[in-house]
Amino acid sequence: MMFNPAFIVKASWWLGLSVILPAVNANPFPQLKVGRRGIVPSNGFSVATVHNSRFKADGPKQFLRSARKYGIQMPQQFTETLSNKGLTGDVIALNQSDDQEWLSPVEIGNPPQQLLLDFDTGSSDLWVFSSETKTVGATNGTRQIWHPELSTTARRLNGSKWTISYGDGSYAMGGAWTDSVTLAGIAVPNATVESATSVSRAMVTDKVLGGLVGLAYNLTSQVYPASPTLMDQMLPLLDQPLFAVDLHWHTTGLYEFGKITDTAFSGNLSWIPLNPKAEFWEINFNGFNIGDSIYWLDSVWPVIVDTGTTLMLLQYDLVDAYYKHVPNSLYSGRMGGYIFPCNQTLPDLHVSFGNDGYFVSIPGAYINYSSLAAYGDPVRCYGGIQSNEGLPFAIFGDIFLKSVYTVFDHGNARVGLADKALNWNEGGVKAKKVRPAKTA
Ligand SMILES: *[C@@H]1O[C@H](CO)[C@@H](O)[C@H](O)[C@H]1NC(C)=O
Ligand SMILES: *[C@@H]1O[C@H](CO)[C@@H](O)[C@H](O)[C@H]1NC(C)=O
Ligand SMILES: *[C@@H]1O[C@H](CO)[C@@H](O)[C@H](O)[C@H]1NC(C)=O
Ligand SMILES: *[C@@H]1O[C@H](CO)[C@@H](O)[C@H](O)[C@H]1NC(C)=O
Ligand SMILES: *[C@@H]1O[C@H](CO)[C@@H](O)[C@H](O)[C@H]1NC(C)=O
Ligand SMILES: *[C@@H]1O[C@H](CO)[C@@H](O)[C@H](O)[C@H]1NC(C)=O
Ligand SMILES: *[C@@H]1O[C@H](CO)[C@@H](O)[C@H](O)[C@H]1NC(C)=O
Ligand SMILES: *[C@@H]1O[C@H](CO)[C@@H](O)[C@H](O)[C@H]1NC(C)=O
Repeated sequence: MMFNPAFIVKASWWLGLSVILPAVNANPFPQLKVGRRGIVPSNGFSVATVHNSRFKADGPKQFLRSARKYGIQMPQQFTETLSNKGLTGDVIALNQSDDQEWLSPVEIGNPPQQLLLDFDTGSSDLWVFSSETKTVGATNGTRQIWHPELSTTARRLNGSKWTISYGDGSYAMGGAWTDSVTLAGIAVPNATVESATSVSRAMVTDKVLGGLVGLAYNLTSQVYPASPTLMDQMLPLLDQPLFAVDLHWHTTGLYEFGKITDTAFSGNLSWIPLNPKAEFWEINFNGFNIGDSIYWLDSVWPVIVDTGTTLMLLQYDLVDAYYKHVPNSLYSGRMGGYIFPCNQTLPDLHVSFGNDGYFVSIPGAYINYSSLAAYGDPVRCYGGIQSNEGLPFAIFGDIFLKSVYTVFDHGNARVGLADKALNWNEGGVKAKKVRPAKTA
């Protein structure tokens, strides 16, 4: 497939996606997030879970952070040692219903107000539900919202506006402020915080989501007049200008900023350069194999690595090829995608990216995304691989990210991938890591 860079415009390619993806808007399936969709039933989420976070503190660095935040003068030798080293930090990613999305605690303002935000490598705006959000139901559920009026450091950016639309047809809009934002324990003093005055119904239906943190590679935000993104402001503070994502099947995951944790993966990282002029985390994959079928398909397919998308959206011929290996699977117009009998074991998917022989295996059990019992079909399940509806690139969302340790290396314009221990345990089936004969 030809890659047409002109398609990716600053005005957010999700707008384009929503135009050419009518099936998604019509899709009644509520747990699917494309681009992002925040629909989470409030099912027992507790604040205690958040306080139990796996945040790891580094004493001296924590001290420096506080010093910076409150303007404390530090002995010069101490600050030189540490500021050269830079900051690192971890933040927990809390799985939400059926791995539809992960939410992470972020503190905004002074005194700090904690919100649960969805980290999204497929967009660049940091926006939140706030006391300014007028949409009915915005404060329902357990959602924690931002109160700029209670923050001594919040300053409105007079005249600034933003509107963002995502691939699933959801949207949000409002005005912008600056305030201090602390993410993974790293304080960004004068960050742009976009306060939603209005959000779409789908956003409100998610009763936990506090907003989004955009972490796209080099995409400007939707704020007008332009204001720096959190990535712009955070990267210079980090020990290394990168972050790592370690999501897991049906349990908590971790975002790590400024460092790579060698013990979180096995073997070596396989590094894949970003495509030229990438605004998203866009790379190419060059090999594709289904289960233990004997052929690899070799070609070049551009793909965006996107924490903000639940599923894997692939070029339609690859999707068709996959479900040919799933007996009795079918494309359902009503569900807007491929479905299959729930008692059918799905084949693993193997994908390679470079020429170093490394490939990622996505377990079939992960591709069994969820039951359709709530839609009156108790025997069929919804596939975790669906069509990209003709986009010029695939989107590897959370189903992929659960299968691999991923480094988003801004400084070197590349993505790193490595194997990790997978925690899933469905029916005792284990993913087979086989590399079949390669075809020309
Ligand atoms: C996270 O996954 C576990 C295991 O499936 C589940 O029990 C828990 O309810 C999930 N968390 C949320 C908030 O949905
Ligand atoms: C939120 O709560 C209000 C008032 O209790 C209710 O009318 C509304 O339907 C709720 N909205 C949603 C999206 O649950
Ligand atoms: C923004 O507008 C408010 C009210 O008009 C004013 O008090 C404030 O000083 C303005 N802020 C800036 C940064 O111009
Ligand atoms: C980011 O994009 C701008 C153009 O919008 C370009 O000038 C700059 O070089 C890009 N930076 C990186 C790191 O790719
Ligand atoms: C904070 O950033 C805004 C632009 O985002 C800028 O107008 C303002 O001067 C900055 N304030 C400080 C104290 O750096
Ligand atoms: C990792 O890379 C090093 C250096 O290139 C090499 O010696 C080693 O064999 C590699 N390890 C694995 C597990 O591939
Ligand atoms: C799945 O269940 C159906 C009945 O609902 C049965 O006909 C079929 O043989 C089962 N398939 C497998 C692979 O167990
Ligand atoms: C697929 O997922 C559904 C719902 O989670 C589960 O009931 C079913 O057993 C799974 N199928 C297989 C083959 O694991």
